[in-house]
Amino acid sequence: MSNPDLVVVGAGFFGLTVAERCANELGLNVLVLDRRSHIGGNAYSERDPETNVEVHKYGAHLFHTSNERVWDYVNRFTSFTDYKHRVFGKYQGQVYSLPMNLGLINQFFGQSHTPDEARALIKEQSSEIATEDASNLEEKAISLIGRPLYEAFIKGYTAKQWQTDPTQLSADIITRLPVRYTFQNGWFSDTYEGLPVDGYTAWLTKMADHPHIEVRLETDFFDVKDDYVGKVPVVYTGPVDEYFGNSEGRLSWRTVDLEESVVETDDFQGTGVVNYNDQEVPYTRIIEFKHFHPEREKTHLPGKSVIVHEYSRFAEEGDEPYYPVNTAEDRAKLLKYRDLAAKEPMVLFGGRLGTYKYLDMHMAIGSALSMYDNKLKPHFSEGAELT
Ligand code: FAD
Ligand code: NA
Repeated sequence: MSNPDLVVVGAGFFGLTVAERCANELGLNVLVLDRRSHIGGNAYSERDPETNVEVHKYGAHLFHTSNERVWDYVNRFTSFTDYKHRVFGKYQGQVYSLPMNLGLINQFFGQSHTPDEARALIKEQSSEIATEDASNLEEKAISLIGRPLYEAFIKGYTAKQWQTDPTQLSADIITRLPVRYTFQNGWFSDTYEGLPVDGYTAWLTKMADHPHIEVRLETDFFDVKDDYVGKVPVVYTGPVDEYFGNSEGRLSWRTVDLEESVVETDDFQGTGVVNYNDQEVPYTRIIEFKHFHPEREKTHLPGKSVIVHEYSRFAEEGDEPYYPVNTAEDRAKLLKYRDLAAKEPMVLFGGRLGTYKYLDMHMAIGSALSMYDNKLKPHFSEGAELT
């Protein structure tokens, strides 16, 4: 494609949604660039060649949404299984069903409680600290759920996620810690939930499958930037600080090291995700991918399973940025980058890296649809300025 109408940087959900809308609805020629060797951004998955189990290469991805428009949109490209996500957590030799609910409370305190009794217990235990007075994450958590549940289910896990003692973390990292006074243990509470029947890569490939869309992989935008910026509209979904050469300083991120292995058993842990709450255990979670697709059981190699140990840490230069740390310093830098971004001619910034925001997939798709409605369509069909 020698003369694209629009250049999209990043072939993740945000970039592909923009590309698909502009090609399909407006008939534009869209050039999508990605520096990786595959499409899909962090939602990319592939079948493990030995076991035929689908592995999400950048961490487990579960689709869920309550947004009707997003649900209608994604169903054009894939159908979804009826998978319902559940998470279990180990602590001191016991396995509990998360999120914190009546079953967990009963098991943890070794006694049955009615919903009212459990409410009264947690209210009493959390009265130790008033939420307004909490000066760090530990105090905030205790003020919300009490010390016993905090120490078992928040303290060690949070310390490992942040490599920081929770007394040294900001109270506003958590706003609430929901406790369910029922036995309901579904992880998400959205209207729609499921996994793409043929996998994430088939879904993402279908989004890009249009004669007016060209995806160019292993192409770093910064190598070709001068060919496009100021000449043709660009939607950039890479890291905003990197776009400006880190002129205001680097934004900080956490990353996750994913250690994948094939184990010699048909079933390693009986479920997809087990959290490890003990601080002495170095990893935060183990994922066993085959459990995300029980309907594919016959296609999986018997006697083996693919698991991934996850280790969380601060990202260094060259690591994959996963979760914004979002310190006060980061927020100050972000404001400066936003000013620079607003002045960049005909370049729109979007997606999780371009806006320095954790976005679930449905949020990335929803925000790309909004950018299409509010900026790209008015520009291409009515000549509105791109800002
Ligand atoms: P990305 O998917 O990151 O895509 C950005 C793309 O831009 C990348 O492919 C990158 O290579 C490319 N790029 C960057 N810079 C350049 C450059 N200079 N030149 C060319 N290309 C460039 N969401 C859920 O809904 N459910 C989940 O269970 C879930 N689990 C997650 C688990 C983890 C560990 C993480 C990190 C995220 C998870 N998410 C989940 C969120 C999901 O990954 C995001 O919503 C989605 O990736 C956002 O899409 P995006 O297009 O904004 O960004
Ligand atoms: Na309290």
